[in-house]
Amino acid sequence: MARVDPDVSKVSILGSESIILGFHLTEYIIRDVLTSIPASNYVLITDTNLAPLYLSNYVEVFKRVSSELAQQNGAKEPRLFTRILPPGELSKSRKTKDEIEDWLLSNAVTRDTCFLAMGGGVIGDLVGFVAATFMRGVSFVQIPTTLLAMVDSSIGGKTAIDTPAGKNLIGAFWQPKRIFMDLIFLQSLPEREFANGMAEVVKTAAIWNESDFVKLETGVDAVREAVLNSNSTIPLQGAKLDTRTEEQGLLLDVILASARVKAEVVTNDEREGGLRGLLNFGHSIGHGIEALVSPLMLHGECVSIGIMKEAELSRNLGHLSQVAVGRLARCLSSYGLPITLDEKKVKDRIGNMHCHVDDIMEVMKVDKKNQGDKKRIVLLSAVGKTLEKRASVVSDVDIYKVLAPEQLVLPVTESANGPRKEVTLTTPGSKSISNRALLIAALGQGTVRLTNLLHSDDTQYMLAALQNLNAADFEWEDNGDTLVVHGGAGRLVVPEKEVYIGNAGTASRFLTSVLTMIPKAEENKPSAAILTGNARMKQRPIEPLLKALTSSGAQIKSLEKEGFLPIAVTPTGGFKGGRIELSASISSQYVSSILLCAPYAVEPVELALVGGQVISQPYIDMTIAMMESFGISVERLENNTYKIQQGAYKNPEHYIVESDASSATYPLAIAAITGTTCTVTSIGSKSLQGDATFAVNVLRPMGCIVEQTETSTTVRGPPIDQLKPLPTIDMETMTDAFLTASVLAAVTSDPQGENITRITGIANQRVKECNRIAAMVHELTKFGVTASELPDGIQIHGKPIKDLKAPKEGVHCYDDHRIAMSFAVLASIVPHGTIIQEKKCVEKTWPTWWDDLEHKMGVRINGVDLGKKKGQVGNVLGRVSGKTNKMDHQKSIVIIGMRGVGKTTLGQHAAEVLGFQFIDVDQHFEKVQKITIFDFINTWGWEKFRIKEAETLQELLSNPQYHRNYIIACGGGIVEPEGSRAVLKDYCRQGGKVLHLVRDMDHVASYLNRDTTRPMYGEDMMGVWKRRRGWYREACNFEFVAHAGSLVEGGWVSPRDWIAIKKDLQRFLLFITGRKTNHVDIKSGRIGVPTTFVALTMKDLRVHQDRLVEICEGADAVELRVDLLKQPEDEQKDDLKSYIEYVGEQLAILRRTVPIPVVFTVRSKGQAGTFSDEDEKGMFELLQWGQRWGCEYVDVEICWSNSAIENIIATKGESKILASWHDVRCQTPWGSTALEARYETADKYGDIIKLVGVAKSMNDNIALENYRITKSEGKPMIAINMGAAGQLSRVLNEVLTPTSHPALPHKAAPGQLSLAEINTARHLLGLLPAKKFWLIGTPIQHSMSPTLHNTGFGALGLPHNYGLLECHMVEYVEDALLKDLEFGGASVTIPHKVNIMKYLDQVNESAKIIGAVNTVFVRHEQKEDGSLQRKLIGENTDYIGIMRRVQPLMQDPTNPPEQGLVLGSGGTARAAIYALYSMGIKKIYLWNRTTSKAQELKQVFESLCDVTVLESLDNAKIEPGVIVSTVPAESGLELPEHIYGGIKGIICDMAYKPRRTKLLLQAFAKGWSCVEGIEVLISQGIAQFEIWTGKPAPIQRIEDEVLRKYEL
Ligand SMILES: NC(=O)c1ccc[n+]([C@@H]2O[C@H](COP(=O)([O-])OP(=O)(O)OC[C@H]3O[C@@H](n4cnc5c(N)ncnc54)[C@H](O)[C@@H]3O)[C@@H](O)[C@H]2O)c1
Ligand SMILES: [Zn+2]
Repeated sequence: MARVDPDVSKVSILGSESIILGFHLTEYIIRDVLTSIPASNYVLITDTNLAPLYLSNYVEVFKRVSSELAQQNGAKEPRLFTRILPPGELSKSRKTKDEIEDWLLSNAVTRDTCFLAMGGGVIGDLVGFVAATFMRGVSFVQIPTTLLAMVDSSIGGKTAIDTPAGKNLIGAFWQPKRIFMDLIFLQSLPEREFANGMAEVVKTAAIWNESDFVKLETGVDAVREAVLNSNSTIPLQGAKLDTRTEEQGLLLDVILASARVKAEVVTNDEREGGLRGLLNFGHSIGHGIEALVSPLMLHGECVSIGIMKEAELSRNLGHLSQVAVGRLARCLSSYGLPITLDEKKVKDRIGNMHCHVDDIMEVMKVDKKNQGDKKRIVLLSAVGKTLEKRASVVSDVDIYKVLAPEQLVLPVTESANGPRKEVTLTTPGSKSISNRALLIAALGQGTVRLTNLLHSDDTQYMLAALQNLNAADFEWEDNGDTLVVHGGAGRLVVPEKEVYIGNAGTASRFLTSVLTMIPKAEENKPSAAILTGNARMKQRPIEPLLKALTSSGAQIKSLEKEGFLPIAVTPTGGFKGGRIELSASISSQYVSSILLCAPYAVEPVELALVGGQVISQPYIDMTIAMMESFGISVERLENNTYKIQQGAYKNPEHYIVESDASSATYPLAIAAITGTTCTVTSIGSKSLQGDATFAVNVLRPMGCIVEQTETSTTVRGPPIDQLKPLPTIDMETMTDAFLTASVLAAVTSDPQGENITRITGIANQRVKECNRIAAMVHELTKFGVTASELPDGIQIHGKPIKDLKAPKEGVHCYDDHRIAMSFAVLASIVPHGTIIQEKKCVEKTWPTWWDDLEHKMGVRINGVDLGKKKGQVGNVLGRVSGKTNKMDHQKSIVIIGMRGVGKTTLGQHAAEVLGFQFIDVDQHFEKVQKITIFDFINTWGWEKFRIKEAETLQELLSNPQYHRNYIIACGGGIVEPEGSRAVLKDYCRQGGKVLHLVRDMDHVASYLNRDTTRPMYGEDMMGVWKRRRGWYREACNFEFVAHAGSLVEGGWVSPRDWIAIKKDLQRFLLFITGRKTNHVDIKSGRIGVPTTFVALTMKDLRVHQDRLVEICEGADAVELRVDLLKQPEDEQKDDLKSYIEYVGEQLAILRRTVPIPVVFTVRSKGQAGTFSDEDEKGMFELLQWGQRWGCEYVDVEICWSNSAIENIIATKGESKILASWHDVRCQTPWGSTALEARYETADKYGDIIKLVGVAKSMNDNIALENYRITKSEGKPMIAINMGAAGQLSRVLNEVLTPTSHPALPHKAAPGQLSLAEINTARHLLGLLPAKKFWLIGTPIQHSMSPTLHNTGFGALGLPHNYGLLECHMVEYVEDALLKDLEFGGASVTIPHKVNIMKYLDQVNESAKIIGAVNTVFVRHEQKEDGSLQRKLIGENTDYIGIMRRVQPLMQDPTNPPEQGLVLGSGGTARAAIYALYSMGIKKIYLWNRTTSKAQELKQVFESLCDVTVLESLDNAKIEPGVIVSTVPAESGLELPEHIYGGIKGIICDMAYKPRRTKLLLQAFAKGWSCVEGIEVLISQGIAQFEIWTGKPAPIQRIEDEVLRKYEL
């Protein structure tokens, strides 16, 4: 072979030009090495893949050149050693290194040696490291043979080997003397290895140089050609410049550029400072993925995905445009690299393995480049440019969001700032218009610049297809914002490879016709054009289109299923044309497809649409209008026939693609559903798109205010929950928008009507990305919305937003962008957040949808990964802090407890409350064994009975029939054998509930002594209890204390106590089953009124029981400080009552006395309490009891060990955790990092965070307030300072401020204030302005109302005042009501209860039905513009007053009497009937002296309840359980005796002077319970007070005060 002196390019690194690139360098390399790195020994190491191809040539040349040189300078020829290693990463080991070293040493190789590493990164890293340590370091030369080795591993001097602990952990920095890049090596490189290296090349261009990147983008084919097509005929082609092909030149350019960047970076930053970190772009996330999928996927493949994720991260953070992200994606995939983990290429390699985000993040945690616990990631600001000159610090949340496959969308109503009031945005270009514009421009003549083109998969596929067809030449301008199309005027060739269009529907239909335009197949090229798509695309029918095209002479073959993709189109001389008949009832895209190609047909086209109604006419019109803007006219003839002008399209200079009208519906719908305003620019009344009328034709009738200009649309939504349903709406002209309309229809309200929206005219939506109608029905149903399919549409029942429940597993999107986006709209309002699966599907039309949703529309989102984690079974929902065992609240409840505690009675009551069935294990036993327990024990003995009993229980619990909705009551001895305790404990572990019922054992004993029907224990009952109580407790996870104050004669619990116990049990059950959790509404927007809890400080609540009501007045919750409780010594001594029983009883007493939620707190000494600091076990045992007893809140100090805290969280059930930290020793000042650490712990574990500091001066409060602001977005937080100096912080804290009360023995903490003090202080600080309240009516001088309300205001320290506004004419109150901004509310009495309504903005349901308003209150509602709107609302509390008094007197309020009787027919009678109805009384009798008036009243209630008018009471055969009289006391009315019947009912007389009317006295004598008029009056006033203040009223104090005045 002739010798040539090759032309080489050199790159300088670390001050010398030691990187040399070129083609055919073998001889050059050897000469250079032998002359510039003289040595006695040369050691060439390579691998078994390379050796057969290149080694012999190298050896040959080496021999020749070395002997030639030796002759020249008369020196000794050097020795050449060669060694061939197995290929692959496994060779980078200690073992291989040892072997090489031993081999050389045994050959007496000395320090005078030079290594030649010929191979990929593996050989380079290994040989480099051997050279670095051999004889303390000898010289070495890199001859990289992979692309990766050329552009990356050979440059920089990093050498290393792997160990079992990880890759590259042992190594050294050791610079090679030379790096020779002979690009000829690349020709033998497998394609996948080439792509692997391209990832680094693309990465380098992306961070460094935009023009290098452009070369990569545009040079794809050339670069691949240079590498892969090695069948050149010229010898040594490329060695010299004159033989170098253009492609080779480009390849060298590209590699040179990349190598140069790496060399430059290394030179400036040899040992990894900031700059070198830039080369890590794509690697932070890439490594995280690589760790999970290696060796199934290569480094570069993972980096490629990493590049995309990190670019998306830059975009999400607002630094990078979507155009740039799209360019990166296209460039990487054009070199055969994967860009997401879900693409087929990846799945083929890794199978079904799921890379869980948590796992990726876990790997990233140990990245060397992290800064502490913050991650560092290279962010781009443009293609070729990084945000900073080093990696930027990025938060985990943001990384998680980008990586997560699912999106959690949070409702705007739950964000601290509420919804964003005013939004303006431009939505992405229309896909339909983009696709049409692309096709027309490509087919057109001349050059056109397209802008606002949609950058999406769809248009990308279209563009790629047009390039494949060689239809036109394309160029990007303005950083990708403008596409320049040099039209090919209709030229088309058969593409080399199949045209793949993914799931792009429009592109597939259009291209089907385009392929028939190809005139002929060229020689040596494929004979037919193949069009195919992904699996879903292959299920979308195109038969009518194929039929029409074949009938006009095209030759098309379906390759798989007839009438579906893939198809092969064989050219037959171009598109024939002539008259074409097409069925257009399924898709208008068929029509557009033919229309668009028609101008180029051989014969003029007349397109006749046949076969039923034409679908989506607007899209056809759009096509025609666009054809016309490109100079081709279409004539519409009779009978749906179109005649198309022949000729080529004329490209205008510019064409702006209009925004997508369907996309625009989503932001507009968010405005509609969240009551805010949104303007979408670039779409308006001028639009050609049907969906552009959505705002006017759908949103406006639903109650939105819509304004439209020619090019913009603005929508203002009504207040939340007030959208109106559309009984019928035909959406034929805007079918794609039906999904948006459907989610809005799910939340409409319609007090009068049926609240149903019916959308029709959308049949085509069944053959879109999925069957969208079925999909919407299915997904909406998951939210609890009633929806069903109509023949050509969908029907949806509206529902209040609060009743919507997001599906746990999230919304399934069917890979359909519109489903994802429309449910994102719904999710912006659904309580607690909604998961949207497959979030990536939006990229089809709106790649930045999630970014825009978050940043432009102000909807908070979070990443979620529902997939399986490494080595984990079952799903996890995102990252939950601590594991909580989610309980299945429908699961059967097992009741255990001593005999005689009431398991049967209370068990049956529990079943009633929960709607469960009741089953008694003993009875079940008798049924199954066919023998009574008594006989069984007498025959077989106790021991056998216990065994059988345990078996019965086990069998019951494993029988599916009893799995759910049963109360299973066990015999008292069930806990005796260990086996049954294990069964019960197991049941708890599986999420079941085992409820232990307890009562005071003294009481039980005296009760049981009366009972002789059951077998006796044969031993002392107390002894039994002492033995068993530990067992009951370990076997249960809930305990209910049935507290009875005292017993009546004979050991029975008094009926009153039973009612109370049942009520307590009901509350308890509703709590533990999550049905009514009684939690404080912390977030409610009652401006100026903070929530508080009063901290009890007593040793024994029994001693102070009569003061508890007073102490708790106005508080939202009450704290039981368990560490302060002290059991009297005498009770401790006889061991009758354990400490736990004492605490349980204390809690029961508290429950009995006040209805507000309980905070269960055990404060340790170190945290300002009294519980031992050492006894962690005891502490958490106690806290566990707080949960077992169903306390709404349990205070957990975060100073204890994590495992203990996590355990308690796992079993917390419905109890909320108040995670608290008390900085008693002043170690964690506000704002310090020490405190931040505490905050994070509390945030992790708590539902509510409680941080308590100590104030020494006012500055400490200021520091606290500054700190509080920084956490305003976080979880609810109690943050206060102890000490007198800290009082201000207690005034300013707005969430559950701990308070004291004057009636308490002492304060729980220094500086604690009472509620009244806090309110007074807030008033003085201007946080709680005084309001005026009035009584309106006449005569009113003797009214009790001022006393009532002013007493209440005073008790709570509220600055308000209640006064009299006496007037005959309601007009006199206008000023006070409407104009006075200090007006807070009013009571209304005769004669204005009806007239007042004209001044009100709204009258509530009950007041409407009763027909009278007695209460006016003010509510401030937020308007669209964010300002507050003052609304006056009317309510009627008379009926509430009756209910509040009558209901507690019922045996069982959940089971009210059948019949009720109302006397009188005036206004009060209306309230009475409504009260009876509201209490659930089915049959209501009405009597009035004048029957006709009663008849009139009956009419009023006709539609609501069953009212029967009695002509006379004397012979009425009725048995009312409740009687309400509204007849004046003066009438002296008494009832005929038989009305009272045999039952003991409840009677209420609304007349309140005298206190006991004649009627009440009569009823009382019959044994009836009586409710006095004054009592009802007080109760309705209290209801009023609570409406006005939003606070529980100080009932006791009000009642005492009013009665005192009344008696005067
Ligand atoms: N030192 C650094 O700065 C640095 C940087 C990046 C990567 N690395 C290391 O590089 C290694 C990966 O390098 P790699 O991707 O080159 O892998 P590699 O060395 O394993 O080579 C890939 C495969 O291609 C074969 N091959 C190489 N050249 C060929 C050719 N011209 N024709 C035909 N087959 C050929 C090899 O035999 C091997 O099977 C890893 O160990 C990695 O840690 C080091
Ligand atoms: Zn890399």
